[in-house]
Amino acid sequence: MPETARLQMGDKAVDLPVVVGTEDERALDISTLRAQTGYITLDDGYGNTGACQSAITFIDGEQGILRYRGIPIEQLAEHSNFIEAAYLLIWGELPTQRQLNDFSDLLTKHQALHEAIRHHFDLFPSNSPPMAVLSAVLNALSCFNPEFLRIDDENSFQEAAARLMAKVRTIAAYSYRHDRGYPTIHPHPDKKYTANFLHMMFSQPYKDYEPDPEQVRALDLLLLLHADHEQNCSTATVRMVGSSGANLFASVAAGVCALWGPLHGGANVAVVDMLEEIRRTKTTVKDFVQQVKDKRNGIRLMGFGHRVYKNFDPRSRIIKKACEAVLAKLQRKDPLLELAEELEAVALEDSYFVDRKLYPNVDFYSGTILRAIGIPHSMFTVMFAIGRMPGWIAQWYEARKAASPRLHRPRQVYIGPAQRSYTPLDKRG
Ligand code: CMC
Repeated sequence: MPETARLQMGDKAVDLPVVVGTEDERALDISTLRAQTGYITLDDGYGNTGACQSAITFIDGEQGILRYRGIPIEQLAEHSNFIEAAYLLIWGELPTQRQLNDFSDLLTKHQALHEAIRHHFDLFPSNSPPMAVLSAVLNALSCFNPEFLRIDDENSFQEAAARLMAKVRTIAAYSYRHDRGYPTIHPHPDKKYTANFLHMMFSQPYKDYEPDPEQVRALDLLLLLHADHEQNCSTATVRMVGSSGANLFASVAAGVCALWGPLHGGANVAVVDMLEEIRRTKTTVKDFVQQVKDKRNGIRLMGFGHRVYKNFDPRSRIIKKACEAVLAKLQRKDPLLELAEELEAVALEDSYFVDRKLYPNVDFYSGTILRAIGIPHSMFTVMFAIGRMPGWIAQWYEARKAASPRLHRPRQVYIGPAQRSYTPLDKRG
């Protein structure tokens, strides 16, 4: 007998089916609630709402667990790389050597941009926010690939996905170089995904950039750790936009815009801004924490807290270690890392943060690692977007292939004025 939950509303009882996930997660299926009772549910910020059933990523926020397609993030961080993890997320299984080679070849084939797209960069004023440029150019890809405006078969999906994965880093690097007036560096056919990105960012026509392998590895790890995170704000946006039938390019362009905000992907910039401000004003860590705790100041400890993780964010632990390793290898010290560690130590002992279950999230240390790799501050959130691309693609496709895909269309409780008559202009106030 399938499990149900009984909701008693006055003298009417409604039996709601219980949906059970692989890891025994339980949800009440309320899809017939309004039809049966006239009521809807209200859940500001969707903190308690499952918008879909998904087989891609599992998070247990109480225990600090993150798995891609069942595989723990710690194992992927140790043994895998970004492209293999992307394949796993998009197609559901780890690739064989042959599948990996084919995917890699497809990425190489599609990594260059159409010359007309390159001219788009001329139209943006200097100092344009790179996330705006990224979103605009990703959306413009739909103009150059009209054959993928509708994706009805696996082959078209694979081609469109490979274009996005390959081109997102080319667009990112071009926007950075264009903004600085540097000549364009084309993708190198022999370089792997992450090394190629660094090549396009930092090589010069007269000299190839040769990063330390530890830096390449650290950046690749960072991308892997950002690759998916179930129904976060940007991914939910991608699924919502896609639910209207919008194409893949338009949907991920919307995801970039959602990611941009400081409460989501933009937090990696906000963390470094915060740390720099603390140093600039010579504020002590104790005083800063006091300022955060006093709600009248409206200051948050950026890089702390998470909607789902209420114990620790496993990505933050991995990033912190990687950051220490890369700085040790480069024999460098970063005063911001030391400040971040000091802040973490004080916050984790403070009842304000302990009681609210606020811990360092993925963004707390990611800015420090990006600084160690030489990525400019303005590009931090773009790096998050490159990393999140496979997750967006996988989630968009899963939603599109659902047995009966539905338009995402939440309801509301209206609290505006009751009906009133139109007042002609000459009779107003
Ligand atoms: N600093 C100070 N107080 C905080 C913080 C913070 N970083 N985060 C939450 N709180 C407090 C908040 O004021 C509230 O207090 P009270 O109960 O007294 O009203 C309580 O904790 C619950 O906060 P909330 O805003 O209801 O929690 P949420 O689940 O809606 O927000 C969050 C999650 C990530 C938006 C929030 O923790 C935050 O703003 N963090 C800082 C920004 C940040 O680091 N974002 C990156 C998130 S991880 C990367 C990603 O996936 O995007």
